[in-house]
Amino acid sequence: MERTLIIVKPDAVQRGLTGEVIRRFEARGLRIVGMKFMQVSRELAEKHYAVHQGKPFFNGLVDYIVSSPVVVIALEGTNAIEAARGTIGATNPAKAGAGTIRGDFGLEIGRNLVHGSDSPENGLIEIANFFTEAELISWGRVTDPWIFEGR
Ligand code: RTP
Ligand code: MG
Repeated sequence: MERTLIIVKPDAVQRGLTGEVIRRFEARGLRIVGMKFMQVSRELAEKHYAVHQGKPFFNGLVDYIVSSPVVVIALEGTNAIEAARGTIGATNPAKAGAGTIRGDFGLEIGRNLVHGSDSPENGLIEIANFFTEAELISWGRVTDPWIFEGR
């Protein structure tokens, strides 16, 4: 099943929104397969955001993500990438719809609370950057047949 890497970014953790963010993904039906509280190193931040290297916001972005601890979550589910990005909302919270995490809790692009992978391929790469195999757990929920048709 498709997987996505979620990062509850430093602003969301500092603001006490970690539980609220996790609640929304759980309520959506996505299944947690890995989760930890960690301090991201500059090296890992630069690897994670390598695609943005050279852009004017790159240094500020790396400074932001290492500025305080984060919670990283590996989520699994049908269409997990698109589902999570829908729950997160548009990159710029100013343009994110009400009902999305960014639309409900954010105002500025550089403080947009949550990261979600942008493709199934990147989901797997990003999860491998943040988790060891042993930290990822394949499991089932008794509610899965009520969320995933045909399981
Ligand atoms: P993310 O990767 O964090 O889930 O966000 P995203 O896909 O919606 O946005 P992306 O284009 O991948 O950008 C990564 C992060 O860089 C910051 N950003 N700042 N100042 C700017 O123009 C600008 N553009 C992007 C945001 O924090 C964005 O989440
Ligand atoms: Mg992105």
